[in-house]
Amino acid sequence: MAAFVMLRYPPPMIPEIAALQALLEQAAYVADRSVATALFLADALERPLLVEGPPGVGKTEIAKVLARTRNADLIRLQCYEGLDASTALYEWNYPKQLLRIKLDERASSAQSPLEQREAEIFSEPFLLKRPLLQAITHTGTPPVLLIDEVDRSDEEFEAFLLELLSDFQVTIPEIGTIRATARPTVVLTSNRTRELSDALRRRCLYLWIDYPTLEKELSIVRIKAPGAGDLLTRQVVAFMQSLRTLSLSRLPGVSETLDWAAALVALGSDSLDEATVRETIGCFLKDRSDAEQLRRVLDSGGFEAMAAILT
Ligand SMILES: Nc1ncnc2c1ncn2[C@@H]1O[C@H](COP(=O)(O)OP(=O)(O)OP(=O)(O)O)[C@@H](O)[C@H]1O
Ligand SMILES: [Mg+2]
Repeated sequence: MAAFVMLRYPPPMIPEIAALQALLEQAAYVADRSVATALFLADALERPLLVEGPPGVGKTEIAKVLARTRNADLIRLQCYEGLDASTALYEWNYPKQLLRIKLDERASSAQSPLEQREAEIFSEPFLLKRPLLQAITHTGTPPVLLIDEVDRSDEEFEAFLLELLSDFQVTIPEIGTIRATARPTVVLTSNRTRELSDALRRRCLYLWIDYPTLEKELSIVRIKAPGAGDLLTRQVVAFMQSLRTLSLSRLPGVSETLDWAAALVALGSDSLDEATVRETIGCFLKDRSDAEQLRRVLDSGGFEAMAAILT
């Protein structure tokens, strides 16, 4: 006879994850269960966390808030096309080395053997530590290393990152191998402007953050824009949620919702009206054709439906 196991869905959250979720909320970050679980597991398994999602949904903010809640340093590497290992890892401080050579020429230490002088200027005090090396050599509370918008970097840089993320060590030819004493928490973010390699994905745990649900967006606005009254908050969020159902070329993210709420508070609004929406379109739609599309919807009497409170 087949044995049935009754599964409770969703299974109860383990206390550590619930505690992390509460901690993030105290630090003004609304984390749903999937976010809190991913962060917990990334730490438990000591794996980097790759966060993908559309613009403005709170990917970068995760790393910032995580560092804040732990009182840890946030080390940020902003990726861009052409970013190379020397800018991300380390460079020799040439001006300082040159100065030292000049001073040595005048001083009696110039008599010391050439090899010794060379070893001196290729030692740690002459090293400019860039974010990745800073994260590896960091002492005290392990930092949070944010590798932001990794999809903007080149494939060669991604390959270089792979090595670093698996071993957390780096070899500097003149100095030797430097190994991280404590692994930093690593958060990588991507907007999917290009596909990341399978190899990088395999090394990371993965978290997709989508546009927030109505409930989540309400919580975010309540935390981040407390100056907005309850009615205005609900209308703004309802409007943004309907806006995302239109086929716009750039859907607005949470950052636009927060900007708009702040703008409406600055204008002294306590509820949403069509004229104000028309005047403030630039706060939440950053594309001319999208703005025109919304104006057409408003022209055909769509305002009431878009601002209707659904909860
Ligand atoms: N869950 C959330 N809780 C609190 N604030 C949030 C949340 N999600 C987004 N925000 C706010 O929205 C804004 C945008 O977030 P963030 O910069 O992290 O977006 P992003 O996903 O990194 O966007 P981009 O892809 O454009 O870099 C920030 O001001 C952030 O505080
Ligand atoms: Mg970001």
